[in-house]
Amino acid sequence: MSILVLHGPNLNLLGTREPQVYGSTTLSQIDAELVKFAADRGIELRTFQSNHEGALVDRIHQARDDGTRFIIINPAAYTHTSVALRDALAGVAIPFVEVHLSNVHRREPFRQHSYFSDLAEGVICGLGATGYRLALEYALERLAPAA
Ligand code: DQA
Repeated sequence: MSILVLHGPNLNLLGTREPQVYGSTTLSQIDAELVKFAADRGIELRTFQSNHEGALVDRIHQARDDGTRFIIINPAAYTHTSVALRDALAGVAIPFVEVHLSNVHRREPFRQHSYFSDLAEGVICGLGATGYRLALEYALERLAPAA
């Protein structure tokens, strides 16, 4: 059983990309913290970033057969454009949370529509890198065997 964290295009530039919007934490720092947070609780967490829509679609398909029980996804710009990624998540039927570092609702109007939010169990935005950790805490709680 594992959790998959997916990052969309340009998130590989985190740390130097518009730090006033996205903060100064790098993607490897975010990933390392999430892997450790999950490992400390006995759960495997895998991460994947791509700038290519098809690669993200393929990774979501792979999740159906590799033991992934929950997905945390920041689709980045594909949030606002990608029916293909939306259909992939619907197709594998793995529950997911949508995360954005910035508060997309106080940015440009084109960022205020998401192809994912109505399928997501929840959406976290505007809390920077902390949002990923909060999504992970939710995933761990949701996957924990009933007490
Ligand atoms: C983002 C918000 C998107 O609108 C943008 O295209 C991104 C990052 C965020 O994390 O705030 O690349 O998903």
